[in-house]
Amino acid sequence: VADGGQGMRQLRRSEEIQTAAAILKEGGLVAFPTETVYGLGAIATSADAVAGIYRAKGRPSDNPLIIHLGSVERVADWVKTVPPIAQVLAKRFWPGPLTMIFQHRGNLAANVTAGLPTVAVRVPDHPVAQALLLEVGIPVAAPSANRSGRPSPTEARHVWDDLHGKLAMILDGGPTGYGVESTVVDVTGEVPVLLRPGGVTLEQLREAVGAVEVDPGLTHEDVTPRSPGMKYRHYAPEGDLWLVREPWAEVKEALERAVKRHQAQGLRVGLLVTGEHKDLVAADLTVCCGWRRDPLSVAQQLYHALRTFDEKGMDVIFAETFPDEGLFRSVMNRLMKAAGGKILDLKR
Ligand code: TXA
Ligand code: MG
Repeated sequence: VADGGQGMRQLRRSEEIQTAAAILKEGGLVAFPTETVYGLGAIATSADAVAGIYRAKGRPSDNPLIIHLGSVERVADWVKTVPPIAQVLAKRFWPGPLTMIFQHRGNLAANVTAGLPTVAVRVPDHPVAQALLLEVGIPVAAPSANRSGRPSPTEARHVWDDLHGKLAMILDGGPTGYGVESTVVDVTGEVPVLLRPGGVTLEQLREAVGAVEVDPGLTHEDVTPRSPGMKYRHYAPEGDLWLVREPWAEVKEALERAVKRHQAQGLRVGLLVTGEHKDLVAADLTVCCGWRRDPLSVAQQLYHALRTFDEKGMDVIFAETFPDEGLFRSVMNRLMKAAGGKILDLKR
């Protein structure tokens, strides 16, 4: 075509969106890109369709789903009230990587919310997700499109690897933008509570609305998190992941000893490091995960990096850690869960 193919590609894209929307409306499962990670969608008004999500992922039935809407205006159709603070957050961060918890109206399938009186809602900021959601017109329930317990998918290929044969269609939108999931905030009380750090940072939330509490379950091992999904070990590679608390450059010799000690037991050792440190210590496999000076690059590449260790069959993985601030807070939350909280003891 005269415009060098651009018009043709757009035509095909809109046909794909229409096909995907039709599958969803008939109760089928479609994976689609968002600005955070890929989602596995089903219409949120059909209990049968939603049951398909739990089945395909192998997800525990007590872990509720996020509903996705194409426009902010439609949110009020499904929640009891949008409190003033939620309106401020919506204005500032929607469409975008923020999920808010509201009291629902009871017009969604009960398994979307795992029977809770509240529902998680998000308006994603991704052209493919937006086009799909506007075409469907009703909320789409969508968890991350990984098998339960695996790292979330940041590329269409990750969805295929985990779920092929278990869904009707994957919309490929290339790599996702943030690489970590949305930030989950409970806005049902007086002060908003952060339940899961994600694409929107705690600092940004506080700048927008002042006080924001942090669910103690996020930072205290002995407190049950208020977000059901946060209690599961998650995002985990198959290899045994250990976090290195010390600045990588300061513990070079101790790290080398730890690598050799594990290799001597016949184990294959992988390193998860940022670009700044990629040549510091040798192991069986070094996976470079962004740059320390660019937190977004670390978030974007984290899940792909964790998957790479599985593909290459690493038995043990040592990972760099990050300060608990900005997007690094979300990265550290995922790394802590992936490692099951294990810190490498370099004094041995
Ligand atoms: O970025 C994202 O949020 C991605 C994309 C696809 O939108 N979705 C996602 O969904 O990460 P999922 O299911 O992997 O994580 C949803 C989180 C879980 O931790 C779940 O427990 C929590 O949200 N959640 C859902 N409904 C809730 C509710 N009513 N109260 C508290 N937490 C809830
Ligand atoms: Mg998930």
